[in-house]
Amino acid sequence: MQTELIFDSPADIETELLAVLAADSQTAKTADAKPAPVLLTANEALKAAAAAVLESGEYKAGVNETVLLYAPDGFRAKRLLIVGVGKLAKVKAHAVRNAAGTAVRFLKPRGIRELALALPESELLNPSQAARAVAEGAVIGDFDADTYKSDRKDVSVARFRLACPESAGKAALEAALDEGVILGESQNFARSLVNEPGNKLTPTILGQRAAEMAQAAGLGWDVYSTEKLHELKMGAFWSVSQGSAEPPALIVLRYEPDGVTEGPVLGLVGKGITFDTGGISIKPSENMEKMKYDMAGGAAMLGAMRAIALLKPKVRVIAVVCAAENMPDGKAYKPGDVVTAMPITADKPGKTIEIINTDAEGRLVLADGITYARQLGATHLIDAATLTGAIGVALGLVNAGAFSNDDATFAKFEEALKISGEKFWRMPLGEEYADQIKSDIGDIKNTGGRHGGACTAAEFLHVFAEETPWIHLDIAGLAWIDDARPYIAKGPSGVAVRSIVEWVRSYGAA
Ligand code: BES
Ligand code: MN
Ligand code: ZN
Repeated sequence: MQTELIFDSPADIETELLAVLAADSQTAKTADAKPAPVLLTANEALKAAAAAVLESGEYKAGVNETVLLYAPDGFRAKRLLIVGVGKLAKVKAHAVRNAAGTAVRFLKPRGIRELALALPESELLNPSQAARAVAEGAVIGDFDADTYKSDRKDVSVARFRLACPESAGKAALEAALDEGVILGESQNFARSLVNEPGNKLTPTILGQRAAEMAQAAGLGWDVYSTEKLHELKMGAFWSVSQGSAEPPALIVLRYEPDGVTEGPVLGLVGKGITFDTGGISIKPSENMEKMKYDMAGGAAMLGAMRAIALLKPKVRVIAVVCAAENMPDGKAYKPGDVVTAMPITADKPGKTIEIINTDAEGRLVLADGITYARQLGATHLIDAATLTGAIGVALGLVNAGAFSNDDATFAKFEEALKISGEKFWRMPLGEEYADQIKSDIGDIKNTGGRHGGACTAAEFLHVFAEETPWIHLDIAGLAWIDDARPYIAKGPSGVAVRSIVEWVRSYGAA
């Protein structure tokens, strides 16, 4: 999608479709209070064109509610699309982002490839925030997951123009638009990886895709395999990988901005299980095909690193993605096995883990990934993983789970969420959960019983993060969207990319 700022007056824009956002300005809460839709623009021509439908009472400017007008009087645009954002008093970047996505997705079934959208104007959002949110939403909305259809029709939108009033500052808007495009495209990069089936995206191929991206974006990178796992004594990561004919990939990306030699080093650790059968503790076949998205945490880190490389915050960042396939096999690890995780330093022993369930494999690869990131110098950690079904039971498919051992670090993440608009809910850690994963034979076991599954999984990771400030994101419930929404296709969501990037930027504003 080619994106562009224009300053033409809306009536003069020659386009297949001109979109404008609307909100409901009704503030009374009485039962008979009627919706009072208003356009989010000061442009008089647009207001005049929309007046009749806004007054009709048929259109309420509800969230992502659309109405299409043909050949609006006095306009060079062929169509005028009004997209609702809901209550005027609540117009946030989030609503604007989704509305822009809704406008883009509106075109697809109609075979339209180009649109212009009037920059939403609202007291609650400055023009830069609005431009960025629109760009993100448009790019995210353009993604479709049907890449393997042999008769695939390309319905991508080729051109998107953001029509800004002349009073708006051009340089700031340009920067905001670029930023939104980078974030949206990085999220889409993560989604394109998550969408790939297990046979098309093995750990090795994920490593190649990461390396290609790193090369193009100007990041440092290394992709290792079996030998390096043995060298580093990554017994937990290796135990998961050993049952697969596909070798593991240990992906390391480095962002080292010029002149930054002090301050924090942020460690991004991602679960990259390219397919999770459950191993010997095999999963039921129903829905097993979905387990191709078990590398969504790793993909989120790769997407985040792409955005970081392009946005250039002044802070050092290392990403470690642990990619493997979890398979049942004669060589596979088994329940009852005891494996030894990577030691933090050569003189210390690695922690021993009793395997209770080979389907709790994500925490094993992450254990070694976290230790490795710390060994590489990370002072603050964030991990992302489709770790537990339990997080979806706890929070539904609405919020993803977030855990942290450090309130100050988590506070920065909460600030990041205000910008990204993504929903994460803080979940508890605690000694009682840690007690649930004590092992009779070794240091810890890899499952903690039926209750509090997301929390005991997080406590397992905590054992490896130790005192290093750390955030754990359990995105199992949100990484895949089962039903299409007006603003986003069904399939991989790319959740967490934008939040991780904002968290990183909060350490090195650029
Ligand atoms: N990859 C799964 C978690 C998952 C479930 C992701 C549903 C996305 C959707 C993970 O490896 C897993 O199998 N977890 C087990 C842990 C259990 C064995 C303690 C689970 O959640 O059932
Ligand atoms: Mn599993
Ligand atoms: Zn898994």
